[in-house]
Amino acid sequence: MQSSTAVAHANLAFVKYWGKRDSTLNIPLNNSISMNLSAAQTITTVTFDEDQTQDRVLVEGSEASAKFAERACRHVDRIRKLSGVDSRVLIETRNTFPASTGIASSASGFAALTLATTAALGLKLSERDLSILARQGSGSASRSIPGGFVEWHAGQANEDSYAVQLAPADQWEVVDVAVLVTAEAKQVSSSDGHLLALQSPFWEARTQMLPARLDRVRQAILERDFVTFGREIEAEAMAMHAIMLTSAHEAERAWHSGIYYWTPDTLTLLMAVQRWRDAGMQVYFTLDAGPTVHLMCPADQEQVVSDAVKHLAQAQAVDPGWTLLVSKPAPGAHIIENPA
Ligand code: PMV
Repeated sequence: MQSSTAVAHANLAFVKYWGKRDSTLNIPLNNSISMNLSAAQTITTVTFDEDQTQDRVLVEGSEASAKFAERACRHVDRIRKLSGVDSRVLIETRNTFPASTGIASSASGFAALTLATTAALGLKLSERDLSILARQGSGSASRSIPGGFVEWHAGQANEDSYAVQLAPADQWEVVDVAVLVTAEAKQVSSSDGHLLALQSPFWEARTQMLPARLDRVRQAILERDFVTFGREIEAEAMAMHAIMLTSAHEAERAWHSGIYYWTPDTLTLLMAVQRWRDAGMQVYFTLDAGPTVHLMCPADQEQVVSDAVKHLAQAQAVDPGWTLLVSKPAPGAHIIENPA
């Protein structure tokens, strides 16, 4: 019996990955930059047992759905092939953050699964090789392998598409106040969204903007320049959503002119952020492929920002039921020696 437990954090992209060069290998069309989120962890134990007759996956102690189990076991197969071990696997995984509330667990999930599986099989891989493997499970999982602030080099092929650390977690005391506005599942999965991105007439314009934006965000993190950082990440989130909003496609029942990942509450928060800044607050937003609004602020402004969100919620006619998840920069994927 060989067993290992790993922990990994979800990450929040400041320059986004949206559009794939290769959708089987998850090779993106552009570099992206992110930060690991301390409040969003996946903890995964992987056990290879010669006496076990089939692969099993448990999520929070219960049998996983067939779809989830199949995807996880397919990932373990990639690693099993490298080691020559053929025993069946037991995967036990849990998150410290609620599922389906807008923080994707695939990044932390596949990063933790990659590390726990390689460790259980006795494979000693470099951070680069772990990132390449994690990427094949879910693209953004490549960024949850290194710690702190991370850049994923898009590359062109399997071996040169991986993430590296730009700066460790203690580089900069910034905080993400994530406002989870709904638990409803999104209408268009990010896998489908990546494919539709090239339909947007603005795709080319965004692509041309990206190299300079990557330089400015990287530099702003290294120099702890919050204003440049904030302006870039907010403009970047809107540039990605401009692509989404103009990705015309045939949906299930009719033609849609684009993908709306927002709800009315998302827009309420985006407009509030502009008012808050007008009033002198240091806060900027970013968004992923969903309605959750991520509010970035200096660590000493966290209370001010959280209070502003709570006051805004109270001012709504009906309690909107928002949940706040506050994260600081977090380390990369690592092994836990004595899991509880
Ligand atoms: O890793 P995926 O396929 O779920 O794509 C993630 C895409 C965004 O969250 C919208 C942007 C990003 O870079 O994380």
